[in-house]
Amino acid sequence: MFITFEGAEGSGKTTQIQLLADALRLRGIDVATTREPGGTRIGDGIRSLLLDLTHTEISPRTETLLFQAARAQLVDEVILPALAAGRVVLCDRYVDSTLAYQGYGRGQPLDALRALGAYATRQLTPTLTIYLDIDVVAGLARKRTGAAAEWNRMENLEIEFHRRVRAGYLAMAAQEPARWLVLDAAQSIDAIHLAIRTQVLELLGKSS
Ligand code: TYD
Repeated sequence: MFITFEGAEGSGKTTQIQLLADALRLRGIDVATTREPGGTRIGDGIRSLLLDLTHTEISPRTETLLFQAARAQLVDEVILPALAAGRVVLCDRYVDSTLAYQGYGRGQPLDALRALGAYATRQLTPTLTIYLDIDVVAGLARKRTGAAAEWNRMENLEIEFHRRVRAGYLAMAAQEPARWLVLDAAQSIDAIHLAIRTQVLELLGKSS
């Protein structure tokens, strides 16, 4: 079974993936965890190109193609083999991140992104996508050290961008409610974990 996690920076995805992986392993379930962009040698190289703050000249199309390239490598090298071996795969971000960030956030055409995503993933779709929804300002504040009482111009741009990303996630979840589990990331870590674990164990046909 293939499960993906989506959410803004500061939404607590990493913590929840670890808690779920531990809970499943305790029940004897074979789990593989991975993340995007990265998760492979090629993908980690692409990741450093993408996240380098000095690469300000990167065009939105280049950015999109690099995310999809890292994803194609991860699907072929890690995700498909793990699924073929019967493992449960938990992935931190997947094709929905490109739709949210490059599509809804940066305005790249969604149809083109969907077609590229289908190509990059060999049309592998998650059984479940968990979206940890967090208020944009609260999410950015969690990431920051120290209080940011005043927002400068760049930070305001950043907020508008993140608002579009969040609206995009919520729109995608509303379009495909059977695949998405939307959780309020402002809840306690334990409450979020319980909701995730319950849903996943049910999907796996196990009692909690
Ligand atoms: P990362 O440090 O992994 O952050 P996080 O803990 O939030 O996952 O950085 C990944 C960044 O790349 C994050 O800001 C989201 C962005 N991203 C895209 O814009 N498009 C994509 O397709 C993916 C996978 C990530």
